[in-house]
Amino acid sequence: VQRNGPDARRKLFLGSFVHCKALDELEYLHNAAVAVDKEGTIVAVERECDEVRARETVLPRLGWGEDEVEVVKAREGQFFFPGFIDTHLHASQYPNVGIFGKSTLLDWLNTYTFPLEASLADPARARQVYARVIRKTLSHGTTCAAYYATIDVPSTNLLADLCLAAGQRALVGRVCMDQLSPDYYRDATPESSLAYTRASIAHIRTIDPSLSLIRPIITPRFAPSCSLPLLRQLGALAQETRLPIQTHISENPSEIALVQQLFPPSATGAPDNSYASVYDAAGLLTERTILAHAVHLTDAEADLVAARGAKISHCPCSNSALASGAARVRWLLDRGIVCGLGTDMSGGFSPSVLEAARHAVLVSRHVSFTTAGGNSEREKLSVEEVLFLATRGGAEVVGLEGRVGKFEVGMEWDAQLVGLGVVGEDGGVGGEDEGGNVDVFGWESWPDRVAKWVYNGDDRNTKRVWVRGRLVHERR
Ligand code: GUN
Ligand code: FE
Repeated sequence: VQRNGPDARRKLFLGSFVHCKALDELEYLHNAAVAVDKEGTIVAVERECDEVRARETVLPRLGWGEDEVEVVKAREGQFFFPGFIDTHLHASQYPNVGIFGKSTLLDWLNTYTFPLEASLADPARARQVYARVIRKTLSHGTTCAAYYATIDVPSTNLLADLCLAAGQRALVGRVCMDQLSPDYYRDATPESSLAYTRASIAHIRTIDPSLSLIRPIITPRFAPSCSLPLLRQLGALAQETRLPIQTHISENPSEIALVQQLFPPSATGAPDNSYASVYDAAGLLTERTILAHAVHLTDAEADLVAARGAKISHCPCSNSALASGAARVRWLLDRGIVCGLGTDMSGGFSPSVLEAARHAVLVSRHVSFTTAGGNSEREKLSVEEVLFLATRGGAEVVGLEGRVGKFEVGMEWDAQLVGLGVVGEDGGVGGEDEGGNVDVFGWESWPDRVAKWVYNGDDRNTKRVWVRGRLVHERR
């Protein structure tokens, strides 16, 4: 296994680089050079710098010898883009992608999801599924994933081990659930749920003591499947450990009604029985909390989420598949709430963040024609905006702001090399220029090329992927 550190090669990346400068603005660096040190940190970003110039000026300045660097060049039609951050997915549900019939959240959980998750207590099966999920998401350019595993500790720990070995950045959560779940798949008591959670946290601290690649994340599944004592104890654990938290919120109307019935203010001590108030009363709304969905939040709940600095994972593919609703992302962003994208696999039917990005555009357009009497221009998200959510927004959601998401000195090299099909004069696209569904004829502007990638791209366009400077996927 190749690790970062003294044995890793220094790298010099050359060609076109695209990243998000602001929410609605991409920056294009052409004929540029980016130097990455052995630790995977970007140490130079040079514009108008070809290989000759980079060798004459950048390498001497860094004190790097000519043959100490591996040179990686983007070909014609290719560009480097920051790795995607999937802020919400269930590694354990991968075998069920596309299998949801006409179900909606609560019957989907009972029919499809709990039986599958329970079956991963079989170590061989867990290894098979988790090894595949990591390779699959890396092949789609996901350099960082916030994973839910299952309630089973050994296989949750295995997921963390496999992420570390494969070099994928990950937040790995052992799922906590002690009520309203089947007998065959439930924590016996809040105390046992806490003990198992601590065991999984301890394991991750053993395999990655600095938590630089893999981090534990406290994971109450969602309010309905957690007793109030469990929610409170997990809130206290988050306070004690300063670890991140992930859960679901306000995804589906029946789920919301259930929360209101299960957690009256008389029990929680909250000012009302809103979903957000239940989490807040348990100490689970923090700056390090990732809330998935947030489809049906009220104004007061959004204000509370904003005040606590909790982040939101927008999962548009899932919300359409399970007919949960259309989250109002602009409305959330306008309140200053940090948002990222999640595939929510297998609520969402695709492991691809690029797929989530295009669904985010489409859902926002649905929101636009159901808001303010129709065709509300403001609600629409642009290609630039969904790419921001997929990279820099996601980085902030998972607590990696300032470390990944853009190409700047001091940031870590979590990146993908994207290649589009370059159509020749005879109408052919050959060999390494295979572009899957995305053909460019040569006359498209760069914004148009990027838009073509967002709407028609897939893993065939993800040629290579790096995390902290380490090559973690190469398409052959
Ligand atoms: N709510 C509780 N559990 C789940 C889950 O596994 N997926 C989704 N989408 N929502 C949930
Ligand atoms: Fe989910």
